[in-house]
Amino acid sequence: MQFHVKQGSVQDEAADLLVVNLFEGVAEPGGALKAVDQALHGLVTQVIAAGDVKGKLGETQVLYSNGALPAPRVLIAGLGKQADFGVAQARKAAAAAAKKARELGVTRLATVVHGAGAGGLDPAAAAAALVEGTLLGNYRYRGYKRAEGDNGKPELAEVVVLEADAGKLAAVQQGVAAGQVVGEAANWARDLINEPPNYLTPSEMARRVVQRAEAVGLKAQVLGEGEMAELGMGSLLGISRGSDEEAQFIILEHIPQGVDPASLSTVALVGKAITFDTGGISIKPAENMWKMKGDMGGGAATAAALVAAASLNLPVHAVGLIAASENMPGGDAIKPSDVVTAMNGKTVEIISTDAEGRQVLADAMCYAARYQPDAMVDIATLTGAIGIALGSDLAGLFCDDETLRGRLTAASELTGESVWPMPLWKPYRKLLDTDAADMKHTGGRLGGSITAALFLKEFAGEQPWAHLDIASVSWQEENSAFAVRGASGFGARLLLELLRAYGQ
Ligand code: BES
Ligand code: MN
Ligand code: ZN
Repeated sequence: MQFHVKQGSVQDEAADLLVVNLFEGVAEPGGALKAVDQALHGLVTQVIAAGDVKGKLGETQVLYSNGALPAPRVLIAGLGKQADFGVAQARKAAAAAAKKARELGVTRLATVVHGAGAGGLDPAAAAAALVEGTLLGNYRYRGYKRAEGDNGKPELAEVVVLEADAGKLAAVQQGVAAGQVVGEAANWARDLINEPPNYLTPSEMARRVVQRAEAVGLKAQVLGEGEMAELGMGSLLGISRGSDEEAQFIILEHIPQGVDPASLSTVALVGKAITFDTGGISIKPAENMWKMKGDMGGGAATAAALVAAASLNLPVHAVGLIAASENMPGGDAIKPSDVVTAMNGKTVEIISTDAEGRQVLADAMCYAARYQPDAMVDIATLTGAIGIALGSDLAGLFCDDETLRGRLTAASELTGESVWPMPLWKPYRKLLDTDAADMKHTGGRLGGSITAALFLKEFAGEQPWAHLDIASVSWQEENSAFAVRGASGFGARLLLELLRAYGQ
């Protein structure tokens, strides 16, 4: 998709669709909406007065200009209540508008920068949110359908970003460019997650990640099982044993250009990338097993954040470590009661081979310590229990370091990828005690997300560490006003925003 920034006013723009906005509870249109209302002889005021458009966040209302404007259609995008408004809301409004534009088969759209006027947002941030939202809302997974999707309707190809104020143009331009990097990276993560697991094996994931990483100047390296064995990654290798596919350990490193390396913070991101989770010998029920193609969502988010960080040349030393493996039953598969040894020497008794994510993360986190990072964040579709605790909107955030937790929370508020603090409750650590090894890896059904996090903590080292359990948010069951069902790409933008915070 092409984005163009243009100085101009909506009423002069000849696009297939003109996007303007409305705050909830506003009866008198202002700004661009007022100009449209005047051109349409009060139609907007009438539609608002009739109560047919309320300005709720995610709401879209299409009007037809019948020759009164160069553009045949106008879309009013709801921004929600002015008091609740911020970049996350601007992004969502843009996403809803793009989703609607796709349904209409619009190929060329012109839009105002939501929030840059009466919304009071920084114009660069508002423009970035606009472009990100447009890309996210327009997203479709192409898959392997031979026929054209969406009834053969044409694709949105061009977006004209209108800014009337010459003084804001440079900032808008810069925001548009950044937003495109971020939106495209997040959609790439979604493509990886939606990809069928017979195509996206660990090796293929490594190949695609390295290809994209190298294209943006990241250092990329992939370790195979032999190298992992030399490193003593017995925990990760235990999981891949049941599969014919070789596990891959993907290492990405962003070293910014033109900055004194000594002045930089180092942040290590660690992603779970189980390209398919059958549960292994502790096999999962058949019903929803197909969704476990998305069990590499943490790894995809990690890769996307690194790719975007490199594209934007963020002034932070960022490392992305992605532990890619299948989890399969097989003659050589790991069994409940087997004991494995992780890279840091700790021994672990396997209770359920379906608790494979923490096993691959354990070794990846040990490896991350080699970089002596200032902060480590792991991200994983780790437990079904996090969905029981927090539902499908919130990811679990486990972090005892106030600064890191604060930065992740602030990042989450900006990106709209919501997180909720969860406890690393020390008394539950004893639930991992066992006779056969230093620890077992599960602590029973109750508090399952917490015991999983406490297990990971054993491999986190001494620096600040956060664990994001995204099992409930990485895969969206239903279409929403803003997005299509399937992979959400949760975490890609959040982690990028965190890297940005460590670069300041
Ligand atoms: N990949 C699953 C977690 C998951 C569940 C992700 C639902 C997305 C949606 C994970 O590997 C798993 O199987 N976890 C087990 C842990 C249990 C065996 C301790 C679970 O949550 O049941
Ligand atoms: Mn599992
Ligand atoms: Zn899993």
